[in-house]
Amino acid sequence: MKSEDIFASYKDNIMPTYNKTPVIFVKGKGSRLWDIRGKAYLDFFPGWGVGSVGHCHPKVMQGIRDQVGKLIFIPNNYYHPFQARLAEELVRWSFPGKVFFANSGAEANEGAIKLARKYGARSGKFEIITFQNAFHGRTLATLAATGQKKYQDGFLPMPEGFRQVSFNDTAAFRSALNDKTAAVMLELIQGEGGLNVATKDFVLEIRRVCDERKLLLIVDEVQTGIGRTGSMFCYQNYGITPDIMTLAKALGGGMPIGAMVAKREIADLLTPGMHASTFGGGPVVCKASLGVFKAIRQDKMLQNCLKMGEYFKDKLHSLKESSPLIKDVRGMGLMLGFELNLPGRQLVEKCLERGLLINCTHERVIRLMPALNISKSDIDKCLKIIEQSLKECS
Ligand SMILES: Cc1ncc(COP(=O)(O)O)c(C=O)c1O
Repeated sequence: MKSEDIFASYKDNIMPTYNKTPVIFVKGKGSRLWDIRGKAYLDFFPGWGVGSVGHCHPKVMQGIRDQVGKLIFIPNNYYHPFQARLAEELVRWSFPGKVFFANSGAEANEGAIKLARKYGARSGKFEIITFQNAFHGRTLATLAATGQKKYQDGFLPMPEGFRQVSFNDTAAFRSALNDKTAAVMLELIQGEGGLNVATKDFVLEIRRVCDERKLLLIVDEVQTGIGRTGSMFCYQNYGITPDIMTLAKALGGGMPIGAMVAKREIADLLTPGMHASTFGGGPVVCKASLGVFKAIRQDKMLQNCLKMGEYFKDKLHSLKESSPLIKDVRGMGLMLGFELNLPGRQLVEKCLERGLLINCTHERVIRLMPALNISKSDIDKCLKIIEQSLKECS
């Protein structure tokens, strides 16, 4: 198919739900992508957070290749070895709990919302506190949890039972609590919402209140999980443990998977027939995900993430000193970015022309989330392109 035919086919046959960049990608390896014309790109936003181990990591590919020749799918009323092994891996890295496997972040969060409702139902509680500028997904319940008007417009009414308060605001959080509150749902770094990092005091206070009032703390690690911030899960940077953690994106190394991990004390509240997902935790995705953990461990990616994250952040701060267009630099590990004084779209386009993929969220915030095994020389290349491109922005 020629490029024009592919664009035309999308236009004719695919729902226009995405703002699309007119590039057709055909190959990926590590932090590089190649388009249909053979042009190479340095990918500093691989798969919107999916690509923690880079494109087509050999350990992920090996897991998939091994499995497709044996058994592609088996439903959840039977057993297979790799769902068991992946659940063990998740629990070993996180906290004593049990796992429910799904296919996406929104689905993992739906599961968490249902588990919180089931937990609260015993005492007539159902409300979940979420935070302004959150993003938890696009299903109706997760849109309600997300709470942002721009995503909800046209889809009202939203399901009830969510109360939103301002982020990093302990007083607002405390005043939102009532006798219907069952849980709190939190991103420790709001990715879509503009790379806003939760303060330690705020998170510790939420954990304290949840303990005191026996509320569930749900931490949405769909974007921050699987090594992104230098710890396997971001909550580990705060010295707390959630009651429920949700994962997706990087968990499958590019294969679609979502997971909810819940503490043992509450995990068995969901009994047979209450919740399900046909494809959740199938053998191929589980093998891919086991490959992700193997890659992170054997290639020492957490250590690299911390080291490169520090280097990258320092360099971004230096760039801020020399560029009046940069207002603020923020983030943790390799979930970094900067806020501009002007809309970021122009910068994204200029970087694309020079062969660098980055992202702009919340209109003015540039998000940089390279693979955890990124090298110093690739970070330097990225910075050089950003610096050159910034000079052309106005
Ligand atoms: C924090 C967070 N939660 C949930 C989601 C939804 O994930 P998915 O698109 O896989 O449904 C996202 C997606 O960007 C996210 O960043």
